[in-house]
Amino acid sequence: MNDANAIEVAAGVPTSALNLIDLSSSDVQRSVSLLKQACLDSGFFYVINHGISQDLMEEVFVQSRRFFGLPLSEKMKLLRNEKHRGYTPLFDQVLDPANQINGDYKEGYYIGVEVPEDDPGAQKPHFGPNLWPSEEILPRWRQTMEKFHSQALNVAKVVSRIIALALDLEAEFFDKPEILGEPIATLRLLHYEGLVSDPSKGIYGAGAHSDFGFITLLATEDVPGLQICKNKDAKPQTWEYVLPLRGAFIVNLGDMLERWSNCIFRSTLHRVVGNGQERYSIACFLEPNHDCLIECLPTCMSEENHPKFPPVQCQTYLSQRYADTHADLNVYRREGA
Ligand code: OGA
Ligand code: NI
Repeated sequence: MNDANAIEVAAGVPTSALNLIDLSSSDVQRSVSLLKQACLDSGFFYVINHGISQDLMEEVFVQSRRFFGLPLSEKMKLLRNEKHRGYTPLFDQVLDPANQINGDYKEGYYIGVEVPEDDPGAQKPHFGPNLWPSEEILPRWRQTMEKFHSQALNVAKVVSRIIALALDLEAEFFDKPEILGEPIATLRLLHYEGLVSDPSKGIYGAGAHSDFGFITLLATEDVPGLQICKNKDAKPQTWEYVLPLRGAFIVNLGDMLERWSNCIFRSTLHRVVGNGQERYSIACFLEPNHDCLIECLPTCMSEENHPKFPPVQCQTYLSQRYADTHADLNVYRREGA
């Protein structure tokens, strides 16, 4: 594909103007109102002045590039395990099976909460030790990722307080030990090769989906690709670009929050459409404790608005969504990889 083609793909699609939430602002009411408006309108917004230094934001991309630049054989040594830690090769994930031919044209790397093997918590799905590339091959890699993981989790908790206020709950509602006391917080490094997506042929960087959890923070560099569909029920669906904003996180609401809020806040369909440029992004997925029950919040139901979803345990819901969208690990065993 040539560049002219890539520009054409980009030119037909409008750009979404998202609200900007300044986390350093002392005007909490204004932040709540901007966030609420964004959650009702698109389920996507930017957060700026979140406190993570530009140096660390850049370093994590440098380290991500170094990992994905390794030979495939090296990366396959860190193939993801049943806890969803480690490397996911091209096509490992299929986010929109009905509309994709091969699966997502992306590779990724999952990093979660570090739980030692001998800790009872390591028995839980999604919890356990991380897989780390060796210090000889990628010096300072683990250190950088652990630092970013912990800081991104703190930013997500700050955002969760504004979300709570926007839902007429007390600010610390989600901070309760039984909700975000031991959250499933996952960092996912993503690398999209420089391929031009072709929706008419079912070729996407990432197929259309909504995220599974509570909220997602996304860091990107300057290469566009992320598109959102504000109304998933519209036919035909219309898509808008969410443009990168250096240093900011793009935040979106996941399906657990849609269930919690009884659809007052919607999780928004999004996808990644490649324009021929190589692209790196880093998603930070926040989900509550394993046994947290996701059920209609007290402020989101009324006589006229009954709970739309049955309560579900976080781990049950999440494990199902992961299983539905990822390759069976036996595929790799058969391939002898
Ligand atoms: C995701 C996702 C978008 C991107 O990983 O869930 O939507 O820009 N990623 O990589
Ligand atoms: Ni997503």
